[in-house]
Amino acid sequence: MNLMIQKDYDAMSLEAARLIAAQVRLEPGCVLGLATGSTPIGCYRELIRMNREEGLDFSGVTSVNLDEYIGLSPEHEQSYRSFMEQHLFSGINIQPEETHVPSGVERDPDAEAERYETMIEMLGGVDLQLLGLGPNGHIGFNEPADFFTAETHCVNLSEETIAANQRFFASRDEVPKQAITMGVGQIMNAGRVLLLVNGKHKAEALRDSLLGPITPRCPASILQLHPNLTVICDEEAASLLYE
Ligand code: GLP
Repeated sequence: MNLMIQKDYDAMSLEAARLIAAQVRLEPGCVLGLATGSTPIGCYRELIRMNREEGLDFSGVTSVNLDEYIGLSPEHEQSYRSFMEQHLFSGINIQPEETHVPSGVERDPDAEAERYETMIEMLGGVDLQLLGLGPNGHIGFNEPADFFTAETHCVNLSEETIAANQRFFASRDEVPKQAITMGVGQIMNAGRVLLLVNGKHKAEALRDSLLGPITPRCPASILQLHPNLTVICDEEAASLLYE
């Protein structure tokens, strides 16, 4: 594992963008696994700047996102499709048809999960997977559970996650209770994993993920077994790593 502790959120974001940019420059036809949440926004902002000012070319890149809420249409302002359009896709020259996010509005969400899994396999898997970390140790929407699920699947969101996401919705009732998420299989198969973590409120989750037992109770702990894991965090998130 490669651990890079940065001074603050901006430094973390810059470093992450540099690594992603290196991946795109070395392999212009790569498959990027992308994440949502507040964590990667700064990194995406920097990638947009690099696209505009430094000629970082996304025209050959394919992207696959980790997850989507069940019940939200792509146009819904809180859908992860909208998030990606707003924070990254609209600002770079990636081909729109090469950007993939699970659909949250299919009649049969399990069939959609299966389609998504097969689609990623057809692409040859993910070259670089960007991840944020849930305060309960979740990655994508792989919530704490009794077992790890390898394939893309539908999940019931935990109370903790619903509460954490409530800030984006008018009321708790409006917060989606289910999602489709890539499983830990495709994440672990990725050629490289880049985990971004910032803030004091993530310090425990980061400590448990990197130093605790490998358990589905802390889904990110499985990343300890990934042969090419880079963790970029800020000093606050790293504060419990060296007790
Ligand atoms: C959501 C997403 C995760 C993300 C997590 C953390 O639940 N499904 O992929 O990592 O939130 O979000 P934030 O970055 O806003 O803390």
